[in-house]
Amino acid sequence: MSNSSAYLQLQLTGIKLEAGRKRSQQLYLLLRELIASEPLCGGSKLPATRELAKMLGVSRNTVMNAYERLFADGFLETRVGDGTYITLAGSGTRGQAQPSLPLNPPLHAGLRLPIAQQFNRHIVHDGLPSAFRIGLPALDLFPFETWSRLQNRFWRREPIQHMGYGDPAGDIQLRELIAHYLRSARGLACDPAQILVTLGAQQAIMVSAAMLLRAEDEVVMENPCYWAAAGAFSCLGVHINAVGVDDDGLLTHQLAQIPKAKMAYVCPSCQYPTGVTMSLPRRLELLNWAIEREAWILEDDYDGEYRYSGTPLMPLAALDQSNRVIYIGSFSKVMYPGLRLGYMVAPPQLVSQLTLLRTMASRQPPINDQRVMADFIAEGHFQPHIRRMRRAGQLRRDALLKSWCQHLSHIGSMPEVASGLHVTIRLPNFEREQTLVAQAMSAGIEITPLSSLWLPESEENANHYGLILGFAGVSESAIERAVLKLKDIWR
Ligand SMILES: Cc1ncc(COP(=O)(O)O)c(C=O)c1O
Repeated sequence: MSNSSAYLQLQLTGIKLEAGRKRSQQLYLLLRELIASEPLCGGSKLPATRELAKMLGVSRNTVMNAYERLFADGFLETRVGDGTYITLAGSGTRGQAQPSLPLNPPLHAGLRLPIAQQFNRHIVHDGLPSAFRIGLPALDLFPFETWSRLQNRFWRREPIQHMGYGDPAGDIQLRELIAHYLRSARGLACDPAQILVTLGAQQAIMVSAAMLLRAEDEVVMENPCYWAAAGAFSCLGVHINAVGVDDDGLLTHQLAQIPKAKMAYVCPSCQYPTGVTMSLPRRLELLNWAIEREAWILEDDYDGEYRYSGTPLMPLAALDQSNRVIYIGSFSKVMYPGLRLGYMVAPPQLVSQLTLLRTMASRQPPINDQRVMADFIAEGHFQPHIRRMRRAGQLRRDALLKSWCQHLSHIGSMPEVASGLHVTIRLPNFEREQTLVAQAMSAGIEITPLSSLWLPESEENANHYGLILGFAGVSESAIERAVLKLKDIWR
């Protein structure tokens, strides 16, 4: 348990000692109950005996007796010259005895928890980046100086007008800058009024799905898939139809077999996790499907900045003439995932309802971060930073390619990687995949098994198993060291 409450004094509210019964005994039992029922109170400071005696209107001896018994039980410790603290071991012991409480009434009937739970294990990636964790850009190149200077400036410059509730669609300057960026970098012309600044792409996915789908509606997802989108749909009770991908992206001809689908969630610029780009004919077919079916398309372009060769194709949202595409972008991969800033470009007819729903979910993202992000773009730091990050991605991809081909080509062949932050090496079967992943993990090298990103009940196919290696999060030398380590353990 962390010692995060060490600087907090335990709030002793509602303690009432009855006349007649031995007060030190009553106080002892009440404090013991309080400490045992509060899992996070370990490390908290207790009031001094004199102070507590005054609060309760009892003698200091009464409090000292109660504290002494708690010391003897192991609930308290003293720190010389500092005071009396609750031990980490003593706190929350009653909570531990009751690990799960029955859910009564039961969960929302729509929840398809098995899928959400299957993907739940991907959620936390804490700690220093290490080879070959997926989802991380070159955080070591983050412009710490510039960012902290802009943050400091925000807080120094009379920020009071920005400390209330902000525009629920997001800071207007930031939305204007995003609109400008999308026009120049993606060929997507949009009005700032169509943009909603979100808490990352995830909120855009969740809010769009919650607004446009009912539980029991159906959605199409590329398979293998982005686990967090699958998790969002399944939390809403939506039925997921898996559609495969080939070298041209989503197998759009299969859509005809899914008459009830109301939405398709796709990553056309860099499919997750295969990295495939959806071809122009498939894009047009998908758009036609959406028009014919009156369905929606969620276009997730979370890492479009990382294209190493070729030119990007027009986003679906730029090709869309019928206002059926919601375009989703994120600052997670060019800035950092913990920032939790992203955006969506909504068709005009959806803007007000999406804004309303987002307001009810979380009002707006933190205003200081939005304003600092806007300053970062407006003052010319964003574009050079993107170039630096893309260059780092490319160099790290090359380092992995080179050392893999030198030392590990017998494990599987390294495909070309034209975009994105990770690569997938295919393997023949489950046993091989799991063995290699387990051996790597035991040596402290993080590798994601491809099989974990297939939707449940997917039929096995030649592309089912593999190793997903994120290459952008650590330096070239760390990549080479990790490959050499793998060479040793994968003999
Ligand atoms: C397919 C996909 N979409 C979106 C994101 C980013 O999500 P967020 O902006 O919520 O961090 C990721 C992150 O890895 C991703 O893989």
